[in-house]
Amino acid sequence: MDVKELYKRKLISLEEAVRLVQSNQKICTAMAASEPAGLLTALAGRKDELENVTIVSCLIMRDYEIFKPEMTGRFLNETWFYGPGDRANHVHGNVTYIPNNLHEAGKKKLANDKINIFWGTATPMDKRGYFSLSLGLTYEKLMIEQADLVVLEINENLPWTLGDTQVHISEIDHVVENTIPLVQLPPVEPGEEELVIGQYIAEMIEDGATLQLGIGGIPNAIAQSLMDKRDLGVHTEMFTDGMVDLFNAGVITGRRKTIWKGKMVGTFALGTQKLYDFIDTNLAVEFQQGYVVNDPCVVGQNHKMVSINTALQVDLTGQVCSEAIGNRHYSGTGGQADTHRGAQRSPGGKGIIALRSTAKAGKISTIVAQLPAGAKVTLGRNDIDYIVTEYGVAHLKGRSVRDRVQAMINIAHPDFRAELREEAKRLQIW
Ligand code: COA
Repeated sequence: MDVKELYKRKLISLEEAVRLVQSNQKICTAMAASEPAGLLTALAGRKDELENVTIVSCLIMRDYEIFKPEMTGRFLNETWFYGPGDRANHVHGNVTYIPNNLHEAGKKKLANDKINIFWGTATPMDKRGYFSLSLGLTYEKLMIEQADLVVLEINENLPWTLGDTQVHISEIDHVVENTIPLVQLPPVEPGEEELVIGQYIAEMIEDGATLQLGIGGIPNAIAQSLMDKRDLGVHTEMFTDGMVDLFNAGVITGRRKTIWKGKMVGTFALGTQKLYDFIDTNLAVEFQQGYVVNDPCVVGQNHKMVSINTALQVDLTGQVCSEAIGNRHYSGTGGQADTHRGAQRSPGGKGIIALRSTAKAGKISTIVAQLPAGAKVTLGRNDIDYIVTEYGVAHLKGRSVRDRVQAMINIAHPDFRAELREEAKRLQIW
């Protein structure tokens, strides 16, 4: 059949699409900047009819009526990564976290759970019947293959991205049309501490290295410190604005990469319109599925692979908490452990966790003698390589607890060092 005809037959309204949802079903949605905002908004129209509908999501960026406290019991957000709304909603019991390493998120969910519906977003269809899944390919394609019902929300503002992003009209059940502005995450202007951290990290990165830059203020700031490097490559989970600047300055060329030579490889994009314009039909940018890009064995095939992520808290032995402070859940593991471990498999590779030595305007040390009750360890101390703060670099890999304590105190803020030393002695951390 003519693909245009097929499109017409599959095109329904947002209201018709949400009418296909039944109580007790699980709906998986595309992540972050590719979240299906029209469908998630329209679902509130069914609030008086539905019960126990679970949204399986990742890093929801907007506020939706279905996650308001009064909807508890009707809609539950089960998420691989908390967004800003989830942090606030947590107290109402209508959001729950799915512990995961991102490269396995989709596969593990499908192995142990039934996904009834997948809601994604895509570009308008091309003349051969293909859409581009655009900004997210972390688990979305796996869900399209496995869900009973697949609906794509077509947004003309989405960039056409290349790689494994194509889906054919014959593979999906319905399309809805909803052209709205894209979600943007502007980079935070780096402060003095971030710039010092950036300098330390720049010294650790050789020309020809391949980089992963994680989510958060510090990884983005680091991009600014790399402007005088040559022939860097990108193998990352998330494409960011900082990478666009490095590419445009001729720093990122990918010429010395050992896999996907000449290509920046990643699995989702989250940033500003600058990034979305850059990745549109850009042959230098390759989207691959999360289970491929983030697999530590694949990450490690890059030579001189450097993974740079940030954290909220690290203890003196090298246990890294990036997703929560005690019981207060903040974000998720994402690909932090995938990429940190993968980088260490790489010949000449480095896994780096970079964080400011203090939080809350200098009142709290992010380096602690022991983690608070309820702590969630994102990266275990057995896996840790480098920790960097504005006071220097602690290389913990292969080192004893005694050596680690010393190295960590050396990169703590001077105001907290004596206290940390006392605590280490009292708790016999050696
Ligand atoms: N104790 C208490 N609060 C702390 C803290 C500490 N030790 N460290 C930070 N905070 C607070 C900050 O003050 C800030 O509070 P606010 O929201 O009230 O301003 C909040 O926690 C976030 O800190 P910030 O440094 O601004 O976070 P960020 O946006 O740079 O993100 C992570 C940092 C660690 C949360 C983020 O990188 C993450 O989720 N990482 C895990 C996933 C990952 O690395 N994936 C990699 C592949 S993309």
